[in-house]
Amino acid sequence: MTDAELIAAARAAALEAYAPYSRFFVGCAIESVDGRVVTGVNVENACYRLGVCAEQSALSAAQLAFGLHNVARIAVAGGNVQAGALFGESTVTPCGGCRQAILEAAELSGRDVEIICSSGNGASADRHRISTLVPHGFGPANLKDAG
Ligand code: THU
Repeated sequence: MTDAELIAAARAAALEAYAPYSRFFVGCAIESVDGRVVTGVNVENACYRLGVCAEQSALSAAQLAFGLHNVARIAVAGGNVQAGALFGESTVTPCGGCRQAILEAAELSGRDVEIICSSGNGASADRHRISTLVPHGFGPANLKDAG
């Protein structure tokens, strides 16, 4: 899948987000090493702090579909929805919690997973590796001295 196609999958997913409180609709698409793609959206809650980010939703879908150890590439997009289309000029980078969740998959897969951060309107995107989003992170390897 091309970058543009993965971004399109994330943007399409964002239209299905449940974000009545923030009105910030986020979609995430995750591609496996063998080209399978799953998506996820943010799902908010009347108890605001219980909301789930799109990346975490997509990682759950990825675990079910092909396993976190097969995660290769991720695209994220978010913005506001008007007349059934996603808008917004700013690129969306994963929040701190989602970076930590992506780090888990990256360590399991042994890949410095690429994250394509798109604007809502799809006009611009930044590319990052998880190692640059989470320098000196705490992952599964850091638990090797646990009992
Ligand atoms: N959100 C995500 O889904 N992913 C991120 O990386 C950043 C934020 C969601 C959480 C909340 O539902 C809304 O965007 C506003 O923060």
